[in-house]
Amino acid sequence: MIIRKSAREIQKIAAAGALVAETIAHVGSLLGPGVTTEELDSAAAAFIRERDGIPTSEGYKGYPKAICISPNDVVVHGIPDGYVVAEGDLVTLDVGVTLDGYIADSAYTFGVGAIAPESQSLLDTGQNALAAGIAEAVAGNRVGDLSHAVQMVVERAGFSVVRSLVGHGVGRHYHEDPHIPNFGEPGRGPLLSEGMTIAIEPMITAGDSEVAVMDDGWTIRTADGSMSAHFEHTVAITAEGPRILTPRVGLARSVEV
Ligand code: MF3
Ligand code: CO
Repeated sequence: MIIRKSAREIQKIAAAGALVAETIAHVGSLLGPGVTTEELDSAAAAFIRERDGIPTSEGYKGYPKAICISPNDVVVHGIPDGYVVAEGDLVTLDVGVTLDGYIADSAYTFGVGAIAPESQSLLDTGQNALAAGIAEAVAGNRVGDLSHAVQMVVERAGFSVVRSLVGHGVGRHYHEDPHIPNFGEPGRGPLLSEGMTIAIEPMITAGDSEVAVMDDGWTIRTADGSMSAHFEHTVAITAEGPRILTPRVGLARSVEV
């Protein structure tokens, strides 16, 4: 069942979304060679709680940490631990925040220091794919229009979309209907309509699209060990078009999606 939101509810998700964006910027500013992902997680948890938010991931289906931090071939759901970040890494911060009962969800992949040209291309493609998906988040379109737009950007660049992981509706619950796949056919799938709030989140790899779940039950890596990137925004479908509820703040590059 798709739950559409009132303007008032969308404002609450936007308030949560602002804190998500600030958290990503804050933790991103701490990201560098030598820091551990566990240290970054502690900083995220403190930052969110000091601002009256709740880290939505903590305790979600038993997830043990405040945010997900996924380096290199870890696509999603990396559990912060003693991993020491190194120059050249691609590190994804995936942050959900609950504020006043409403949730926003966003992810961003940072390059650490000097990164390989192919890694930069993967990041650029992930951002372009997210932008293409957001542009299709318009009332009257179908989910397949959005999914197809994401897929085309990624595959034209020579990269792959992960097919077994999808975006989702978001609001009072972390994961609501509909699923938002990152591949699909135009004109197919659920109709998008005003008041829907969805997390659009291309998860892409430099190699093929297969992934594997590690023994901890959470960490999902590329099966071929290739690099991955993940960009996510919570977006409302409004009469005025797509509205990003997790707009980036404080990141180094001027144009960021
Ligand atoms: N934030 C993730 C998403 O984009 C969900 C993480 S669930 C967790 O949908 F339990 F792993 F945190
Ligand atoms: Co999500």
